[in-house]
Amino acid sequence: RTKWLILSAMIAFIIALLVSQFAFRAGAKEQALPLPPLLKDQNTSEGITAYTITARTGHTEFIRGKQAETAGYNGAFLGPVLRMKKGDEVTVKVNNQLGEATTVHWHGLEVPGSADGGVYGKIADGTSWQAQFKVDQPAATAWFHPHLMHETGKQVYKGLAGLIYIEDDESTKLAIPRTYGEDDFPLVLQDRMLTEDGQMPYKLTDADIMYGKMGGTQLVNGAVAPTLTIPKGLVRLRVLNGANARIYTIKLSNAQFFWQIASDGGFLPKPVQVKELELSPAERAELLVDAGSLHTGDIFFLQNGGDKLMTFKVGKDAKETYGVPESLVEPERLKPEKAVKRRQFVFGGMGKYVNINGKQMDMNRMDERVGLNTVEIWEISNPSAAGMSMSHPFHAHGVQFQLLSRNGGPPPANETGWKDTIHLRPDERVEAIARFRKPGVFMYHCHILEHEDAGMMGQFEVK
Ligand code: C2O
Ligand code: CU
Ligand code: CU
Repeated sequence: RTKWLILSAMIAFIIALLVSQFAFRAGAKEQALPLPPLLKDQNTSEGITAYTITARTGHTEFIRGKQAETAGYNGAFLGPVLRMKKGDEVTVKVNNQLGEATTVHWHGLEVPGSADGGVYGKIADGTSWQAQFKVDQPAATAWFHPHLMHETGKQVYKGLAGLIYIEDDESTKLAIPRTYGEDDFPLVLQDRMLTEDGQMPYKLTDADIMYGKMGGTQLVNGAVAPTLTIPKGLVRLRVLNGANARIYTIKLSNAQFFWQIASDGGFLPKPVQVKELELSPAERAELLVDAGSLHTGDIFFLQNGGDKLMTFKVGKDAKETYGVPESLVEPERLKPEKAVKRRQFVFGGMGKYVNINGKQMDMNRMDERVGLNTVEIWEISNPSAAGMSMSHPFHAHGVQFQLLSRNGGPPPANETGWKDTIHLRPDERVEAIARFRKPGVFMYHCHILEHEDAGMMGQFEVK
């Protein structure tokens, strides 16, 4: 009798194993969170940083056994992390092996127009470009991506995007997690529309032209629903909304609070406790998540609203224990009375008629002229017209803003640091102040890439 029991248990076990194997093969790829490589600095001298990145095409398996045609920097999808320190003299050599022209724009970097890589930084196929600049801004998580006129949406969608980590003397002194891949992780959020055979074509439907290209497959660092084992302790997440158009509302499935410690352009004055956080395209947020009170083996999800983006698995005790700091970095405040000019930027239009101040991007027209090193207040608004309205993230190159107000009131606590991308929901209005410290020609635009490509962009010259 016992023999039979053991035998049937064994058979049941084998069947369960076979079934689970089959389910595993048939289902989506079960995958660890890919971590972008840290690119190696080719110049060993202190204060000088040299990188080479190659934009190329490749194949990526989002669905098991199906290869999508993609593009990336030094790889098949996305790119490496470029680390730099405030004060560094940086050169980045960009090789273009895409089979088509591109540009590489350093989103969030305060660099001269000549190094900015916007629509004027065209790199013909098979050629190279060298960007040269000095890192002249506080610690932040920025990123890079193509910016070719009318082609930005397509090229970013293919996979061309990478992260930039800037450190400075203050950031390295903060008692927060900083060990890459151990307690400090990048999370690039993107969504894609995959066909049944696992392809990722960039074809725009009428809805895509209206709302921007979105898809039902959620990627984190280029993987579908990946899993990350985190230490049992305080964990730092550097989140980039790298999607073409989707606005994320991120939260944790175990209803845990987290703390936002940095926005686009650097640290906040102090951590801001949040239960959910909205991020429009191109916005970044650095977060602290406390897994210290959880148990080894616990599982929870990062969600966009109700949709699961990825799984966190609590591992062993963290090597280093941190508390959430009381304060972070107080940025130097730009004073409104120092402003020499106020400008208005009004979003308008729908679909292919999207515009700013009633105009669509024209490289032959300079929209705004700004005095070098002057302080200005930019009023950005998104009025709904004829009952039609949608959100637009406003972004300007070569500069970081401080919000003076949002909808007439003080900005929310997590917008009291430096911002280069400002989310404007329907009927919202923001006053933002900036000092224009870098000379050259720069863009301002909506960061829904299909809107940008359609012409929801303008240019300004700082001189
Ligand atoms: Cu993220 Cu004009 O760029
Ligand atoms: Cu930019
Ligand atoms: Cu827009």
